[in-house]
Amino acid sequence: MSSQIDHLLNEDRRFAPSPEFAAAAVADASLYERAAADREGFWADQARELLHWHTPFTEVLDWSNPPFATWFADGELNVAYNCLDRHVEAGNGDRVALLWQGEPADDQREITYAELTDEVKRLANVLGDLGITRGDRVAIYMPMIPEAIAAMLAVARVGAIHSVVFGGFSADSLRSRIDDAGAKLVITADGGWRKGKVSPLKPAVDQALAGRGGAGEQETVEHVLVVRRGGNAVEWTEGRDVWWHDVVPQSSADHEAQPFPAENPLFILYTSGTTGKPKGILHTSGGYLTQATFTNKVVHDLHPESDVFWCTADIGWVTGHSYVAYGPLSNGATQVLYEGTPDTPHPGRWWEIVEKFGVTVLYTAPTAIRSFMKLGRAIPKKFDLSSLRLLGSVGEPINPEAWMWYRKIIGGKTAPIVDTWWQTETGAIMVSALPGVTETKPGSAQVPLPGIAIDVVDEDGAHVGNGNGGLLVVTQPWPSMLRGIWGDPERFVETYWEKFQKQGFYFAGDGARLDDDGDVWFLGRVDDVMNVSGHRLSTTEIESALVGNEAVAEAAVVGASDETTGQAVAAFVIIKQSYLAAHSPEGLAQTLRAWVGDQIGPIARPRDVYIVEELPKTRSGKIMRRLLRDVAEGREVGDTTTLADTAVMSVISAQVK
Ligand code: WTA
Repeated sequence: MSSQIDHLLNEDRRFAPSPEFAAAAVADASLYERAAADREGFWADQARELLHWHTPFTEVLDWSNPPFATWFADGELNVAYNCLDRHVEAGNGDRVALLWQGEPADDQREITYAELTDEVKRLANVLGDLGITRGDRVAIYMPMIPEAIAAMLAVARVGAIHSVVFGGFSADSLRSRIDDAGAKLVITADGGWRKGKVSPLKPAVDQALAGRGGAGEQETVEHVLVVRRGGNAVEWTEGRDVWWHDVVPQSSADHEAQPFPAENPLFILYTSGTTGKPKGILHTSGGYLTQATFTNKVVHDLHPESDVFWCTADIGWVTGHSYVAYGPLSNGATQVLYEGTPDTPHPGRWWEIVEKFGVTVLYTAPTAIRSFMKLGRAIPKKFDLSSLRLLGSVGEPINPEAWMWYRKIIGGKTAPIVDTWWQTETGAIMVSALPGVTETKPGSAQVPLPGIAIDVVDEDGAHVGNGNGGLLVVTQPWPSMLRGIWGDPERFVETYWEKFQKQGFYFAGDGARLDDDGDVWFLGRVDDVMNVSGHRLSTTEIESALVGNEAVAEAAVVGASDETTGQAVAAFVIIKQSYLAAHSPEGLAQTLRAWVGDQIGPIARPRDVYIVEELPKTRSGKIMRRLLRDVAEGREVGDTTTLADTAVMSVISAQVK
């Protein structure tokens, strides 16, 4: 990876914004000046200009108890009011909020701001009937349908906290997230369309909630609210399960949004860390919404009255929170929401959608771009993509080759590309070019946004200087920063703040380099977190799933570089002798791949399962994943001198071949 990046750092192509784009752009260079002159004042201005405050704030940042920050703490607002009612009150109720496209071609709905506001008000009343009040946790496990967005907003409207669980996660993953947050309600659907058929969701909820209430287990879930979408048969638990269509349309559409303090929790979103247990990243209201709204506006150059925005992320990820649910709606924009996969029923589906809805701004992930690249330009060329005027990338480093392809084939050689770096923890974009302002550079995420302070430092926290690599840190608190890890303040401090405690820097876990211009190039994670198709997976989490299988004695997982997905999961497993005798290695590998898919979700399914007799360990028993990565990537194995048994790598290499 790093030698590849060294080569990429010689990149000298530059793309200056066209005068026409710059003239009409939301952003201009004065943003940097304003922010540099008074960083906190700059954010206070954004918060006041972009949001409606029921009670204006007088405090901006309180950093008196680091790393626990508050922003705009004495102000009060309602997040859903900001995303809905205020647009209707401003006379924009007829503007389309959601251009929803189901996976089946004729499944399509246009929902205006007035309609979405109405639906969210009804649902907010239903939540009240189901006993949901401020501070309660609600799990949302849904396909990409308008009701999913309505669910998030209704939870926010009543001051409760949502925890969206990606619909591709297993019943087990759902259960652990429900338990960790102590969710009182689960909102789901019978199923959703995926790859040409209905993929069931409600059965996974049933399974997650089944057989509980035993010793030491407390069932927190009181109700399951179910949208009928897939039409698949579902089991029903009387008294617990409620059909959406039985209660929401009948409920009153009168619901006044109450103000809540700026630091009222808005959502928990679980993400993989370096241990087996996912972390519940906690975000609050005022600062989060300020930065989500601001970045969506300036980085995506959003003109709400004319743009058709499309962020392809699922609401199960943070990108779907900030740039599907909150950013675009707070800005009053029109956006596409698509239920299905990019290749159903044909590989040009996304481009067909761009043409059909006249998408102007597209925000997607490098892994998607690379898979389209592999299929060839003939597919997008069949569609009229001339409406696209700005392209965005998120989730992992975008290699210059994919960047150039994106620009040329999708962007018609004119659309600027913004490569945006951020994390579940940062809540919103942190590093990115500003379209219309920045001269862009293929492969580099470039510069911190106005009001954001970052650096690349060495292990001691010292600035590395241009031309050098190190660790990415955020040096000043920012409005949409995570406020903690749900139920685990120690882990919050330990994971992000201990490493550079002296300097008070936030440690992001990403390697980065500064080029000669001082632009940032991201190099991938420096910890045991993998990035597969832009999704974060923990090596430890997959290892614990593997050893949970009765055939497995021991397992080590690494992220191996992969042309399409960025990284792929490669697992090295030691099988128990009794199983080895009775099963073929191919059969075992197949079984284990499926097993991990069932335990965590299909995205975690290993690309390769290597059955080996031993794992490379140091004398203190630590698995040397670096060496396994060499094997998985087909490289010469690196330095083995710290291994307890230096011969083990040649045995493993031979077995893998
Ligand atoms: C990686 C997704 C390089 C990075 C928004 C980060 C990126 C992790 C980029 C967060 C980018 C995200 N260039 N790397 N433009 N964007 N990453 O929490 O390693 O799912 O730490 O948030 O993705 O992933 P998460």
